Amino acid sequence: MVPEKDGDRKPALLASRRKSWRSLQLSASLSGAVGLVVGIRYNPHTPATTIMTPATLLPQPRARRGDPLQQPDFLHLWSGFYYGEMAACELSVRLAEMAPDRHLQRFSTETHHNDETWHAEVFQQLVGQLPGHPAMPPTPAWAQEIANTVRTCNSYVELTIGSLVVEASAVFLLELQSQFPGHLGTTFQRMLRQEKGHVAFATRYLRDTLRQAEPDRRRELKELILETFRYTRDRIRPQFVRLHLEPVLPLLGISVQDYRNRARLASRKVVRSILRG
Ligand SMILES: [Fe+2]
Ligand SMILES: [Fe+2]
Repeated sequence: MVPEKDGDRKPALLASRRKSWRSLQLSASLSGAVGLVVGIRYNPHTPATTIMTPATLLPQPRARRGDPLQQPDFLHLWSGFYYGEMAACELSVRLAEMAPDRHLQRFSTETHHNDETWHAEVFQQLVGQLPGHPAMPPTPAWAQEIANTVRTCNSYVELTIGSLVVEASAVFLLELQSQFPGHLGTTFQRMLRQEKGHVAFATRYLRDTLRQAEPDRRRELKELILETFRYTRDRIRPQFVRLHLEPVLPLLGISVQDYRNRARLASRKVVRSILRG
């Protein structure tokens, strides 16, 4: 795999506060997208949806038994997925535009984009099959925010770091969805395999880029990855980062302890600011 071109390195990622802020904005926005649907679990033993996190993000559905396609509560979950998949589509288009070589561009156009389009279509159809055929809710603000941020992001490597977070969160969510019995479960399992492929692709690109980067550049990129993961941890759930993002760090040559130290420091800062009132 060929790392980013020299042209992609300018301006340096953390060379200015503005650039750094934009990077954070990207990760924040992408994180926000998945944050809306994180926290819902499907339990195959007692078919029900259960809110796992403070239920301020979504209306809390009551536990029900039976076919999920007969449960209107899934509107919130699956429309959230739909908008998340649409955001992933936008991201794949932008990745193709920014790709530094044909190999990366081909993956974005022929694999990544096709996969995300299919995922969005599946969730759109699922919403349409819910009782009463509810209309898709209007585009949420976070989805619009992602689209705007992705369009203005001018670095392939930044987009890839954002993509890694989004794809890993899709794996996290679909692992729960793929426990559905029957055809629905099979469809989600296929999606899950594709999302794991997207995670692997982003990880390999970042690993190769870091390996071939000059020391200063490598430090900048590691810094950006650590900051993005820390932000994701604070914005979504520590459990998600621990299970799905921390294992990526050693593959990138980054110490998990470095990340944990940073996350702890960030938390202390937050606590201090709260105490100061
Ligand atoms: Fe997807
Ligand atoms: Fe994906």
